[in-house]
Amino acid sequence: MSLLFSPFHLRGIILKNRIVVSPMCQYAAVDGLANDWHLVHLGSRAVGGAALVLTEAVAVEPKGRISPADLGLWNDGQIEPLRRITRFIESQGAVPGIQLAHAGRKASVMPPWMGDSPVTLAEGGWVPVGPTDEPFQPDGLRPMALCTDEIAELVAAFGAAASRACRAGFKVIEIHGAHGYLVNEFMSPLVNKRTDEYGASFENRLRFLKEVVAAIRSNIPTDMPLLLRISASDWHEDGWQVSDSVRLGHMAAEMGIDLIDCSSGGSIPGVKIPAKPNCQVPFAEEVRKAGIPTGAVGIIVNAQQAEEILEQGCADLIFMARELLRNPYFPLAAAAELGDEVAWPVQYERAKRVVKK
Ligand SMILES: Cc1cc2nc3c(=O)[nH]c(=O)nc-3n(C[C@H](O)[C@H](O)[C@H](O)COP(=O)(O)O)c2cc1C
Repeated sequence: MSLLFSPFHLRGIILKNRIVVSPMCQYAAVDGLANDWHLVHLGSRAVGGAALVLTEAVAVEPKGRISPADLGLWNDGQIEPLRRITRFIESQGAVPGIQLAHAGRKASVMPPWMGDSPVTLAEGGWVPVGPTDEPFQPDGLRPMALCTDEIAELVAAFGAAASRACRAGFKVIEIHGAHGYLVNEFMSPLVNKRTDEYGASFENRLRFLKEVVAAIRSNIPTDMPLLLRISASDWHEDGWQVSDSVRLGHMAAEMGIDLIDCSSGGSIPGVKIPAKPNCQVPFAEEVRKAGIPTGAVGIIVNAQQAEEILEQGCADLIFMARELLRNPYFPLAAAAELGDEVAWPVQYERAKRVVKK
């Protein structure tokens, strides 16, 4: 059996293979509510054979949405539409997971196909929040700097959203600590210029993350896996470095994190990221040496490439985004390519016989 199709244990759950649907914003929600689009989008990828199907970034409070069309889990009314999705994902033998997020100073922008431009108050936008009042871009919305009471409220919002996620049937939670959104904003020295207990030193910049992890852990069952997505490098000499990620890797298990999903970038605009296949794999490899399981992500587009990443011990899970948009059935075809026998949905079995090995 290939490594890609070998099972993986994470706390109380077993993933049937190593393929994870990486979180992908759909900008398709109204008032944060999941709808038929989210059911079909996430459901198709469960049918396609991925082991863990993660939702897009789901905001823990309305101001934490990237755009007005993001999913949210800040009230109980948002639970039931998500339950419908988790039920379907599980019926396909996949594990439903949710990415809990707060967009921080990068909130209140239009969907990418409408230009990522700030949504004004008149258009239904809002004033974002951040570690300081420095905007992401000079011409972007100026955020309100969070005071310590507001930070405590946001920590509690992560905890409450985690509790709702459990009631919605999710079996895995991922904290979005990457791409220059709020958790990452506190971590990165490029963004966090605070001088209080939430800023300056490495320990202080991790305080918000640690409090979020603790709030979530105290609201979910002990056997529920908690993943953390990080920007393992800011790709900037004054920014968060891979060595910081490794340092965090050493602390992660103790904090209550079960796996670090290693992405990168996003803290400040204008940074050059050498986007090419496997460009972020070395981050997963380095962090994994700290003794914490990792996920690799970024232009992983074929079965052999994914298998080699696992064989070389660079990561434990393979997160895939755009390739799964192009082909939701990639895992079924990848299994055939690697010579592994996996179950297809019975409704599709007549198509299985003709897949070339
Ligand atoms: C349409 C789209 C939406 C995305 N939304 C999110 C998101 O909500 N949260 C997140 O952490 N990353 C998000 N990403 C980043 C992906 O999860 C992934 O890290 C990135 O696309 C690189 O992987 P790939 O080369 O397999 O696409 C998004 C990517 C795409 C293409």
